[in-house]
Amino acid sequence: MIPNPLRDPRDRRLPRVPEPCALVVFGITGDLARKKLLPAVYDLANRGLLPTNFAMLGFARRDWGDTEFAELARDAARQHARTPWREEVWERLAASVHFVQGSFDDDNAFDELAEALRELEGSHGIGGNAAFYLSIPPSMFPVVLKQMQRTGMAESTPDRWRRVVVEKPFGTDLASSRELNSLVDSVFSADDVFRIDHYLGKETVQNLMALRFANTLFEPVWNGHHVDSVQITMAEDVGIGGRAGFYEKTGAARDVLQNHLLQLLALTAMEEPVEFSAEEIRTEKLKVLRAISLPDDLRTFAVRGQYEQGWLAGQRAHGYRQEEGVDAASTTETYAAVRLGVETRRWAGVPFYLRTGKRLPRRVTEIALVFKRAPHLPFADTDTEELGNNQLVVRVQPDEGVTLKFGSKVPGSVMEVRDVSMDFLYGEQFTESSPEAYERLLLDVLLGDATLFPRNAEVEASWAVIDPLEEFWAGTEPYAYRAGEWGPRAADEMLAAEGRRWRRP
Ligand SMILES: NC(=O)c1ccc[n+]([C@@H]2O[C@H](COP(=O)([O-])OP(=O)(O)OC[C@H]3O[C@@H](n4cnc5c(N)ncnc54)[C@H](OP(=O)(O)O)[C@@H]3O)[C@@H](O)[C@H]2O)c1
Repeated sequence: MIPNPLRDPRDRRLPRVPEPCALVVFGITGDLARKKLLPAVYDLANRGLLPTNFAMLGFARRDWGDTEFAELARDAARQHARTPWREEVWERLAASVHFVQGSFDDDNAFDELAEALRELEGSHGIGGNAAFYLSIPPSMFPVVLKQMQRTGMAESTPDRWRRVVVEKPFGTDLASSRELNSLVDSVFSADDVFRIDHYLGKETVQNLMALRFANTLFEPVWNGHHVDSVQITMAEDVGIGGRAGFYEKTGAARDVLQNHLLQLLALTAMEEPVEFSAEEIRTEKLKVLRAISLPDDLRTFAVRGQYEQGWLAGQRAHGYRQEEGVDAASTTETYAAVRLGVETRRWAGVPFYLRTGKRLPRRVTEIALVFKRAPHLPFADTDTEELGNNQLVVRVQPDEGVTLKFGSKVPGSVMEVRDVSMDFLYGEQFTESSPEAYERLLLDVLLGDATLFPRNAEVEASWAVIDPLEEFWAGTEPYAYRAGEWGPRAADEMLAAEGRRWRRP
């Protein structure tokens, strides 16, 4: 008998709608909540992906009632939502939006929050299910977690689930991430903890798995026999905005390399999971993170930089040390690049070059597999002067898509071979626009699907890569690069030392 897909609960084409539940956001008045979380909640409602019995509770210090909160939420959603504005959707959502005022050290406020959740079970039929989003400064995690433990809010029982969402940074080094993980794990069970790395919510990142494991074309060449090197880039054209306080203590390696870039590396290098499930995918990623090796010569192969005054898009840009709130002698890096190895049969000997920076010429995130040159070219040298290495580039953002670069004959009477590109652009192939990363991830939290969330062991394995770099860099001056340039010269020399060059995306 042919199974009816509409009856098959495993059919992922059916919209997945969570069970009745509440979403509690700590830090609801903050930047992340306004720009990403509230708009994502609206977009989910607009797409019909929230359960009918749903409530959202905001928690912060302001002396607000539900009405003021609903106004903030409306403004935020209107300004930043991805999907078109529909007043009727908002009105339905607004009826489920509540505010609890309080400070994190205020026991009464948490008792009130616990009470509010209990009331919602009756008034909104949320069934006792709740996800708690910690959109708050990391220094506040311990106090909030302890309050949730004290009030019994964190407890999942057979008839209700309770989940927690933790925003990066997950610690500042291996020791502090272990401490944070053990604190979170002492309050919530491991399956109920969702660590957000919003890069994993991006369609193109998920497409990496489709590209590799749904096709026969790429996997046979996805290894050290054919791949010469891998370049993973996350470049930003912006500076640090108003976030000097955060950035001065963090720097590019902790802010981006430790999480986004190592996660992209893990997805690029991992073996095929036994099945497409959270458990199996996370297991394969963890194996890669544990297999990462640092170069012996960190002086050449680990470079950090800091932007100086320069020009970007025709405008003069400040140097990092002139940014508001930054120490005039700051040694915080705004650029980091490193050559890593992955010590597995598939990847031994293949360098993975990772780089990230602020005030670079353009905003782009991409993974590029650079293939080996053909062992022999039956053409005259002059015919292939313009021929580079074949490359497969997965563009995570912007212009999401995949590009294959290969040699082709130039039209004409001579045999000249030059690089050409074959492009797949999401925007051209699909009419539906991609959901925002936070939209996808919030929905997954409410559904209890942890596939796209790194587990604690992954976070710790990533810090084990970063700690020696930070130790090596401590007390050194970062190399300077001008705003609007592709990083310091030392980063180019790093690749040149092995006869390679960075891509200019
Ligand atoms: N912003 C981003 O784009 C971004 C990106 C990635 C990760 N993150 C992470 O997301 C989290 C939130 O970032 P953010 O930029 O939204 O921070 P933020 O703008 O500083 O917001 C902090 C929020 O926490 C609340 N808060 C702080 N101390 C409190 C206390 N003692 N009692 C009660 N409420 C308190 C504030 O409420 P009041 O109104 O009461 O002050 C505010 O709502 C951080 O962990 C950050 O690292 C942010």
